[in-house]
Parts: sequence; structure tokens; C-alpha cells
Amino acid sequence: MTLILGIETSCDETAAAVVQEGGKILSNVVASQVEIHAQYGGVFPEMASREHVLKIIPVVAEALQTANVTWCDLAAIAVTHGPGLAGSLLVGVNAAKALAFANDLPLIGINHLEGHIYANWLQTNGAPLAEKEFPLIALLVSGGHSELVLMRGHGDYELLGHTLDDAAGEAFDKTARLLGLGYPGGPAIQKAAEGGNPDLHKLPRAWLRGTYDFSFSGLKTAVLHLTASFEGKRRLPVADIAASIQMAVADVLTEKTKQAAGQFGARQIILAGGVSANAQLRQTMHERAPVPVHIPPPKFCIDNAAMIAAAAHPHLARGELSGWNLDVLPNLKLPTRHGQAPA
Ligand code: KG4
Ligand code: ZN
Repeated sequence: MTLILGIETSCDETAAAVVQEGGKILSNVVASQVEIHAQYGGVFPEMASREHVLKIIPVVAEALQTANVTWCDLAAIAVTHGPGLAGSLLVGVNAAKALAFANDLPLIGINHLEGHIYANWLQTNGAPLAEKEFPLIALLVSGGHSELVLMRGHGDYELLGHTLDDAAGEAFDKTARLLGLGYPGGPAIQKAAEGGNPDLHKLPRAWLRGTYDFSFSGLKTAVLHLTASFEGKRRLPVADIAASIQMAVADVLTEKTKQAAGQFGARQIILAGGVSANAQLRQTMHERAPVPVHIPPPKFCIDNAAMIAAAAHPHLARGELSGWNLDVLPNLKLPTRHGQAPA
């Protein structure tokens, strides 16, 4: 039985989890700082680091206690070492090193983006542990990333496309601000869109034909002009605009993913990252995809440590351990077949 303790502190969630065999979740503890940062309209980096320092030990202790395991039961400690906020990452990495050293356990540094992808290997909602069928297309959409990736096996990533400007999550966060909705923008837009008409205000889609790249900055500009056109005239139709934003993002992400699945003969599509929690995107992808689609439940799409432990499992199996020289890498990219992904 292989139990891995995962630790995640790359942004504004202090999280720890114990996962068995890369999929069975024995515990999943997340201390969210969202309310602290909401008043600033975004993550306040120094405040995030300080909160991690306060929460990391209680969160790890709770993860072990809930899983009903002791240090001796663990096979390794996995920790996110990038990408993310340097100060936040340092807290998790330093704690993981100390705990690994004190308990004589192997340490595994995990790429946060790989973690999001491996949330798809977690056993959730009582479903059996299902192996994924390769080749598959992974759509990774979070606050800082929008990437379309071809996976031919575990840890084998080929970057097909990425965003040329804003990430999908950033598009939600920035347009939410324009609509006067709270932070984080994605959940706020989803809530505001309930009952809204997505066809009343047609927003632009950047198709960037012939590539698998994305661009969302035009959407932000269009929303800026649209909101300005209502100023001093009539009340802003927030629900309709929010619904149109969701549809514009979901439309482009779904069509590009579908196209890639067709071209590369994918047997499956998986979604990952905070934006894949979006109900409109989930529905659109399920409706239009030509192959089976797997999307983790929303709480495993947003940052958590179970996904970090899941991603560590194949690394441990291959004997890929980190040394005490493990450093934080705020700009870490997904390791792709053709070297590093373009910045
Ligand atoms: O993966 P994540 O939790 O953190 C990063 O690694 O970036 O993603 C956070 C992003 C934010 O931009 C947030 O607005 C977006 O995911 N997000 C959503 C939803 N929940 C979170 N976007 C759209 N709909 C949602 N329900
Ligand atoms: Zn994330």
C-alpha cells in the first residue's frame, strides 16, 4: 500500500492530503484564504505567505489525523515547487523538506500544472479507480494558464497550444471586475450568469485558426466597451453579460479541444484547473465532445493537495525523487516532449 502526503501552497490555499495508490483520497484538507484576499480584489502575496506560515502545520496534522495514518505509514511527501508565488511556494517546500528529513521519508517536488492534470486520476464520488486511455487531450485552464496538451502516456506531455495573452481564469477575473462582481471572478461570473441570456450580447471569439493557441484579451476589451455603452443610460444587464462571457470562453475552449481530439485520435478528453469548475464549460464540453470527457468534481479542479499526491505517484513508481536542493520555481512550465513549453 503506497500512501503519499501531498502539500500545496502555491497561491492562496494551504492544503494537505493523503492519497493511496495515486487515486484513493484518505484525506483532503484545504484552508482557503479567499476571504482575506477578496477585500484587495486579488491575491496579496505577502499576506498569502504569512497565512501559509500560520496554517501549514495544523493543515498537515489534520490531513494525517483524518486519514488515520502516522508518519510511518507514508511512502513519500510530495510538494508543489512551482509555478506560483515564490513566497507561498517557499512555505510549502520548506515545511515538506523539514517533515521529510525528520521522518526519513523521500521528498518529491511536483509541478502544480501536472498536479491539476492528475486530479483526473483521483477517485471521487465513489467511482472506481479508472485508468485513463491514452492518447488523450488535456485542457488545462486556471488563473495563470490555458494550455492544450496531448498526453501519450504518464508524464508525457506535448504542448499543442497556449494562450497568447490572458489565461482563461484571468479573463473571468478581469471581466468580473468590470461587472463589479467579486474576486475570484470565475465563481462570481458563474453565479451572476444564472438566468442570464448568453445570446443577447454576442461577445467575440478569437479563433486563431490553424493553431491551438488561445487569446482572451479581446474578450476583456469587448466587455469594457459593452459596459461603457450602458453608462448613464440604463442598468447594466449583469446576468446577460456574465452568461455571454461564460459562453464565449466555453465555446472557444471546447471547439479547440474537439479539433485537437480529432486530429490526434484522442481516446479521451480531460479537463484540469480552476476554470474547469465552470458549469457552462463542463456542459458545453460534455455536449459537443466526440470522445468521453472526464472532469474532476469542482473542488478538485481548484487548488488542492490531493492532486499533488496523485501526480507524485507515477514519479515515486519511477524512482524520481527530489534532493535537499529542491528549489521553488515560480515560472515553472509543464515539461513537454520538445523541451520547455514556450513562455
Ligand atoms: O487552478 P486555480 O484554483 O488556481 C491557479 O492555479 O490559478 O484556478 C483559479 C482560477 C481563477 O481565475 C478563478 O476565477 C477560476 O479559476 N475559477 C473559475 C471557477 N472557479 C474558479 N472560473 C470559472 N468558473 C468557475 N466556477
Ligand atoms: Zn492551480
